[in-house]
Amino acid sequence: MDKMKKHILITGGAGFIGSHLLHLFVNKYPEYLIVNADKLTYAGNLENLKEIENAPNYRFEKADITSNDEISELFKKYDFDGVIHLAAESHVDRSISNPMEFINTNIVGTVNLLNVARAHWNGNYEGKRFYHVSTDEVYGSLGDTGYFTESTAYDPRSPYSASKASSDHLVRAYFHTYGLPVVLSNCSNNYGPYQFPEKLLPLFIHNIRNRKPLPVYGKGENIRDWLYVGDHCEAIDTIFHKGTAGETYNIGGNNEWKNIDLIRLLCKVMDNKLGRKEGESEELITFVKDRAGHDMRYAIDASKVKKELGWEPKTDFPTGLEKTVDWYLTNKEWLESVTSGQYQKYYEDQYIKR
Ligand code: NAD
Ligand code: TYD
Repeated sequence: MDKMKKHILITGGAGFIGSHLLHLFVNKYPEYLIVNADKLTYAGNLENLKEIENAPNYRFEKADITSNDEISELFKKYDFDGVIHLAAESHVDRSISNPMEFINTNIVGTVNLLNVARAHWNGNYEGKRFYHVSTDEVYGSLGDTGYFTESTAYDPRSPYSASKASSDHLVRAYFHTYGLPVVLSNCSNNYGPYQFPEKLLPLFIHNIRNRKPLPVYGKGENIRDWLYVGDHCEAIDTIFHKGTAGETYNIGGNNEWKNIDLIRLLCKVMDNKLGRKEGESEELITFVKDRAGHDMRYAIDASKVKKELGWEPKTDFPTGLEKTVDWYLTNKEWLESVTSGQYQKYYEDQYIKR
């Protein structure tokens, strides 16, 4: 194979953020060969990549990041210069009911990738980069004030965030111990098209459309900082190319919403889009038992990435939310297909449980 300018492995590219990142990279960097390695769990969907599947600089490889054989084979075949690692089990509620899956993929899978990259690069780190994509949830839960900075002590409280925290520590350990050229980012809650409808916004859009209950955990007072997925991908692009090895960058939207306020806003937007009378969707709000160990507030101080690398979010929230709602309403088949068949039982279990 003639070597293109860079060969990049993106893991988890059939998921929500990964598929947006692939659209960005495949179109923006025709001189790179970009390989998407994904196991295609319930959250991975090749439909998300239809527009780029035949691009000359794109390849898909079905692979499990926990398999040393499969990942070593890919490094031999493609001789990667860079890795952008997104593959993960990503939903907090699933981590509460089935933590082992999270330990295997998020911790063991990450260490396996680190080991294979290290063995393949064999100390020749010129032009190499291992980028680990992580979450702000590793920092734990904030009270009414304050922000997570890159030096906030880790205090993960769910099996999901504990598994991501563990993988972050291991990535940094490979930098300090072996000199592997790593870079990390910790981002707040993303929203946008192609997000699996188990996460708050797509689940509630789906339920409102089908006039199903909107299960609000606890009193709906928890706060999240929402960032449009396209802005996150631009941050990843910036950090991958310009970030300093060994450094961590926090990414956020500077856009805090109390869940119940966000849900009421979504209900208004949906009433408007669906031509329903104002207040109709709000009637679907149902307060249910709180999530175990539910973190109260996440808020990111993203001044480092702005100051050092010049990234800041571009999408204002009303525009991003409207774009997102429009996408799910236009792509009903996508929503129906990912919530039918093998996924249906999980949803029914969730609804019965709550
Ligand atoms: P997602 O659940 O939508 O997608 C995960 C992808 O990983 C899927 O395509 C799945 O098939 C794949 N995958 C899972 N296990 C695998 C394995 N063993 N081997 C290979 N592939 C596997 O997740 P997402 O929301 O796109 O998140 C991507 C990354 O970004 C994760 O690491 C997550 O922790 C991080 N993150 C997400 C958010 C968010 O709001 N969604 C915020 C900050 C950070
Ligand atoms: P989620 O989208 O699962 O992201 P995360 O837990 O990683 O922040 O949830 C966002 C917020 O919405 C969180 O505070 C939990 C809450 N939530 C509900 O109230 N009801 C739901 O059905 C879901 C999925 C989430």
